[in-house]
Amino acid sequence: MKKLIIINGPNLNLLGKREPNVYGNLSFTEFLDTIKNKYSNVSLEYFQSNVEGELISKIQDVGFDYDGIILNAAAYTHTSVGIGDAVKAIQTPVVEVHISNTFGREEFRHHSFISPNAKGVILGFGLQSYELAIQSFL
Ligand code: DQA
Repeated sequence: MKKLIIINGPNLNLLGKREPNVYGNLSFTEFLDTIKNKYSNVSLEYFQSNVEGELISKIQDVGFDYDGIILNAAAYTHTSVGIGDAVKAIQTPVVEVHISNTFGREEFRHHSFISPNAKGVILGFGLQSYELAIQSFL
């Protein structure tokens, strides 16, 4: 069984309540139930934190024995050298995911510290971006 983990960064715990015009009306826990049922052949874990260091520690913890990391570092994508370095340091492939099309938004969202070391990037498909990332590991 493939061992995957979704790691979500700051403010993504507010999905469903936060800017629904950009991020939709569904909470992540509701969405997670659906994809866990749909991909029951996969071991799918979930971790969310609003704290940069906790995200780095989690990436390090899982980064040498999981089959894949699906990472939406949210705003830290655009600011965090530390998360970028963590992605570079580990062996597990990382697929970077964004709900919105960051290239259609403010210019500061066009840069990612994660992309250069990600296996791939999926963005702009709403929550379906996560599902496409799961499929990329199967
Ligand atoms: C986001 C895009 C980021 O620019 C933003 O800061 C987020 C969410 C997305 O999933 O679309 O918090 O990563």
